[in-house]
Amino acid sequence: MAARGLLLAAALLGLLQASSTFEVKDKSGKICILANFSVQFTVEYNTKTKTESKSFLLPVNAHVIKEASSCSKEKETSQVLVVGFGAGHSLHLMFEKNADSYMISNLTFSYNLSDTSLFPDSSGGQREASKAAGIQAELNTTYRCHNIHRINMQNVTVLFSNVTLEAYLPNNTFSKNDSTCAEDNPTTVAPPVTTHIPTTSSLAPPTTTPTTNPDIGRYNVSGSQGICLLATMGLQVSITYSTKNKTVKSEVLNLPPNTTHSGTCDNSTVTLNLTSGSTSLSFQFMQNVSAEKYFLQGIVVTANLPLGATEKNINAFNHSLNALKATVGKSYKCVAEESIWISANASVNIYNIQLQVFKISGDKFGAVEECQLDENNMLIPIIVGAALAGLVLIVLIAYLIGRKRSHAGYQTI
Ligand SMILES: *[C@@H]1O[C@H](CO)[C@@H](O)[C@H](O)[C@H]1NC(C)=O
Ligand SMILES: *[C@@H]1O[C@H](CO)[C@@H](O)[C@H](O)[C@H]1NC(C)=O
Ligand SMILES: *[C@@H]1O[C@H](CO)[C@@H](O)[C@H](O)[C@H]1NC(C)=O
Ligand SMILES: *[C@@H]1O[C@H](CO)[C@@H](O)[C@H](O)[C@H]1NC(C)=O
Ligand SMILES: *[C@@H]1O[C@H](CO)[C@@H](O)[C@H](O)[C@H]1NC(C)=O
Ligand SMILES: *[C@@H]1O[C@H](CO)[C@@H](O)[C@H](O)[C@H]1NC(C)=O
Ligand SMILES: *[C@@H]1O[C@H](CO)[C@@H](O)[C@H](O)[C@H]1NC(C)=O
Ligand SMILES: *[C@@H]1O[C@H](CO)[C@@H](O)[C@H](O)[C@H]1NC(C)=O
Ligand SMILES: *[C@@H]1O[C@H](CO)[C@@H](O)[C@H](O)[C@H]1NC(C)=O
Repeated sequence: MAARGLLLAAALLGLLQASSTFEVKDKSGKICILANFSVQFTVEYNTKTKTESKSFLLPVNAHVIKEASSCSKEKETSQVLVVGFGAGHSLHLMFEKNADSYMISNLTFSYNLSDTSLFPDSSGGQREASKAAGIQAELNTTYRCHNIHRINMQNVTVLFSNVTLEAYLPNNTFSKNDSTCAEDNPTTVAPPVTTHIPTTSSLAPPTTTPTTNPDIGRYNVSGSQGICLLATMGLQVSITYSTKNKTVKSEVLNLPPNTTHSGTCDNSTVTLNLTSGSTSLSFQFMQNVSAEKYFLQGIVVTANLPLGATEKNINAFNHSLNALKATVGKSYKCVAEESIWISANASVNIYNIQLQVFKISGDKFGAVEECQLDENNMLIPIIVGAALAGLVLIVLIAYLIGRKRSHAGYQTI
């Protein structure tokens, strides 16, 4: 079903599809970013009477805005590609790198609602939507992704397809080695081959390395408005991979409490990035302004896989989560272990969490909102207690009635 949906979407995109190549050069003329991709945007906007939704493609005449793009400003390592089109619309891709990979750390789509050719009947104004893009590749490799890579933001959805892209180019051209996106690798985890497994246990779960619970780490993120994320939690990443001898294995990694972390704050999105060795975890929190709730919308997990694995590393993400939800101004608390399913081959387990995102007064956790799991756990003793109390009451009433009956009996004789 999902595959058919993708094909249909691909066919729709294909109708008008034409990818163009964008390049960013430094002052000496050396190319640092090369990118070739197709993009479909879907924007929700308000007219006087209702909310409209409009989809359009990045046009063929889209061009690099040289003044806004850069190979790296002084002291910074980030590289920026800005592609402009039409009447004041632009797509900003900010790249960052670490020791072994580069990624789009922020994608911003800036659009002009006054452009009536794209947004008929709109009330107008310049808007912006931004987010980490979930696009990451090893340094000195070309990132390739034919399938659709979706990025959901508030009011805007961006679909990338047929992407060939590389930042921090070593040699003015795409590197020969590739990093392929997860969307192009639907069979990363091959089903276990039965000849390797005794018939009696053909449904055996993958072998897991037993681990202790992770230690609790303390994390905080601040922006220009002050602190926007405060968390104490134990984090564990659970991944499944196929090996060269065609078995499926899984591995559990605890993040140490001193994991280095960073993040960003803005009005609609808060991110928390954690890196421990080759393992990195990125959380994206969103706010539902009308419901006054915040929640975890996206997780990106990258990790190196052990030597026997068919792939060198794993890059799993899911941007349609609705986890760790609480009221803005309050903190989310859960003593029970919570497992957040990301994809068929990765999940993140969270232990003993207290978390607050967006509005935090006095740099301290606000009133606690207990998670459902904890509430259920508390409910059991309450139900058992109530049942016992009820039983005692019934026995007591039965005894009193019995006593009254027997008294009455004596009197009649
Ligand atoms: C990618 O490009 C190919 C060839 O240019 C085209 O046939 C295909 O429809 C494109 N796929 C998507 C998802 O846009
Ligand atoms: C850009 O991508 C399209 C489709 O993937 C391909 O046909 C085209 O040759 C590419 N352009 C360049 C300059 O690489
Ligand atoms: C937005 O669109 C309007 C109408 O096309 C145009 O007058 C205005 O200059 C545009 N704004 C920008 C920043 O390009
Ligand atoms: C870079 O390109 C030049 C010329 O094409 C080539 O001689 C050189 O080996 C390349 N270097 C690397 C690291 O690929
Ligand atoms: C491509 O990857 C292989 C294996 O990791 C490595 O040995 C080789 O040097 C890489 N090639 C280039 C041009 O970087
Ligand atoms: C974290 O702590 C461990 C031991 O407790 C230490 O080996 C490691 O270097 C520390 N890492 C960082 C980033 O401080
Ligand atoms: C915000 O919450 C309301 C009420 O729970 C819900 O109807 C709406 O779909 C949510 N909006 C988003 C963008 O999640
Ligand atoms: C993302 O997570 C949601 C909720 O757990 C799940 O329904 C959905 O299938 C996941 N998406 C992908 C692409 O795996
Ligand atoms: C945030 O983290 C820093 C460094 O770990 C710490 O010094 C500071 O006290 C923390 N702030 C809060 C409000 O917890």
